[in-house]
Amino acid sequence: METAATSGEQAVMAVTESDVQQTYEVFYRVPRVGQLRLSDGGGPFGFDIHLALLVHQLIDMLGCDAICETGSFVGDTTHYLAARYPDLPVYSCDIDPRHVAVTRRRLARHGNATVKCCDSPRLVAEVAGRHARPLCFLDAHWGAQWPLVQELELLATRAPSGGAVAVVHDFDIGHPRFSYDSYGGRDCGPGLLAELAHPPAVYFTPRPDGPWPLPCLQTGRRAGAAVIAFGLDDTPLRDHPLLEVRAVPAPAPAPVPEPTAR
Ligand SMILES: C[S@@+](CC[C@H](N)C(=O)[O-])C[C@H]1O[C@@H](n2cnc3c(N)ncnc32)[C@H](O)[C@@H]1O
Repeated sequence: METAATSGEQAVMAVTESDVQQTYEVFYRVPRVGQLRLSDGGGPFGFDIHLALLVHQLIDMLGCDAICETGSFVGDTTHYLAARYPDLPVYSCDIDPRHVAVTRRRLARHGNATVKCCDSPRLVAEVAGRHARPLCFLDAHWGAQWPLVQELELLATRAPSGGAVAVVHDFDIGHPRFSYDSYGGRDCGPGLLAELAHPPAVYFTPRPDGPWPLPCLQTGRRAGAAVIAFGLDDTPLRDHPLLEVRAVPAPAPAPVPEPTAR
């Protein structure tokens, strides 16, 4: 049975009622250990089931063969991904060995999960080298170095032959209900994509008012997200009722230097 509300949407919403049910059942069984520190109270994808549903659609539509998460913290999203996709390899990493130790302990029974203690671009390069079409959930931040630009450049230049899809968490989607992060005066938003050495032409954001098959029960902080398809035919994303396609803006002009006094 299709989950989409109208026949027009059914063409692109190939996910079934049973897929939605499985996502629901796995999602709400994952303990929200991340409430230790996360401002959204923890839980898979910041306890936003719309992101879990979207990730499922991306994996399904684009035929992803591996999942890579950067920044595991204590493993709420890693736990969800490993349990929801037992037939896919799930990689995660964190730069803090204490986070890795907790996540590894949680994931001990999930033979499909690998949790590494490393700088996230290293994991992205490794996964892109090993798999044809990985989905990369980019969520590594808080440290002195913000690795997002490096992660995205790696996917842009070293995307495997089949391509890769990135889901950037805490991204500015220009909607008051959705938060985003900023580091060193740079917002995690469209301007950052524009400044990449290899910027994508477009990116996609979830439509808050789209025909989601389940309500989102996160009443606290919700984070925006951006989806970027590297080296892939993005037609299914352009046609998708849950996604909005947006052009990456032109880079801001470099500041004109003040004329020096003679
Ligand atoms: C917002 S938390 C991740 C939350 C987690 N993805 C979840 O859904 O529960 C960010 C994590 O990124 C880690 N981190 C920061 N910089 C990193 C880097 N360069 N490489 C790997 N992990 C990093 C931090 O230690 C922190 O645990």
